[in-house]
Amino acid sequence: MISGLLATPAHTSPKYLYDRLGSRLFEAITELPEYYPTRTEAAIFDAHALDMARAIGAIDTLVDLGAGNCAKALRLIPALCPARYVAVDISADFLAEAIAEVQRQHPALEVSGLGLDFSASPALPGGSLRGRSVFFYPGSSIGNFTPAEAHHFLAGVRRQAVGGGLLIGVDLVKPIEVLEPAYDDALGVTAAFNLNLLRHLNHLIASDFNAREWRHVAFFNRTDSRIEMHLEARHALSVSWPGGERRFAAGERLHTENSYKYSVESFAALLRDAGFARSEHWLDARGWFAVFWAQG
Ligand code: AVJ
Repeated sequence: MISGLLATPAHTSPKYLYDRLGSRLFEAITELPEYYPTRTEAAIFDAHALDMARAIGAIDTLVDLGAGNCAKALRLIPALCPARYVAVDISADFLAEAIAEVQRQHPALEVSGLGLDFSASPALPGGSLRGRSVFFYPGSSIGNFTPAEAHHFLAGVRRQAVGGGLLIGVDLVKPIEVLEPAYDDALGVTAAFNLNLLRHLNHLIASDFNAREWRHVAFFNRTDSRIEMHLEARHALSVSWPGGERRFAAGERLHTENSYKYSVESFAALLRDAGFARSEHWLDARGWFAVFWAQG
């Protein structure tokens, strides 16, 4: 992560947005009127859960990638009826409470949790998959990967999902008037979410970032079809940590996240290239978000 801080332009992995407070701020984002992805995806699941269950068939192991509070899986489990549920998330302590709630609501379901960063490699520890496995990757988290990284990630999931498949949520390209406010909301919750990364870095590497010296910047980059989030230095400043230092000119940015937006066609092509045999998808009424079922 330090190499990214020293690079020009400076950048950090979006995983650093999610310490305990960051995860809470993200949950708050999902309730904002401007942030359409979570509720749009939920509406698709609500409207089409039974079609999805029919398309997917019997599931032995449902693997929830980036489970967080497990809320999305909880809504789908009654329709998909898996025998086992494996929740995977980078934040293991956040996961423990969530898993307990899943077990409470589904006493007969075999429930387990895995605290690991699958974004580095989607390969799960041996023994965590049993029988026909279906991977669940909602929320358009795939948007954090570049298309090349997404290809690599999807190919890795495909290798583990042979005979099963992948149910994945994908945010779609839409008018900039809708896209940009979703990442720069009126209440400043997304700004707080972005700025919180600085506190998290201070904790991780004992740096001395001062959040007051930075401003949240978010915009849609049409060329690359992605929302970019940055933190911009309000004035010339320097940041130091044991063994290193970085100066930022006034207006210089630290790139903290990309959120790629796909078309239905471009994402279907990505799934095909990653080795999935066939896919189908469901959309919301406005065509803002897609849920794909890709057969392994
Ligand atoms: C969790 C990656 C899907 O890109 O929309 C929300 C993260 N960043 N607001 C997204 C996020 C700023 C979110 N994902």
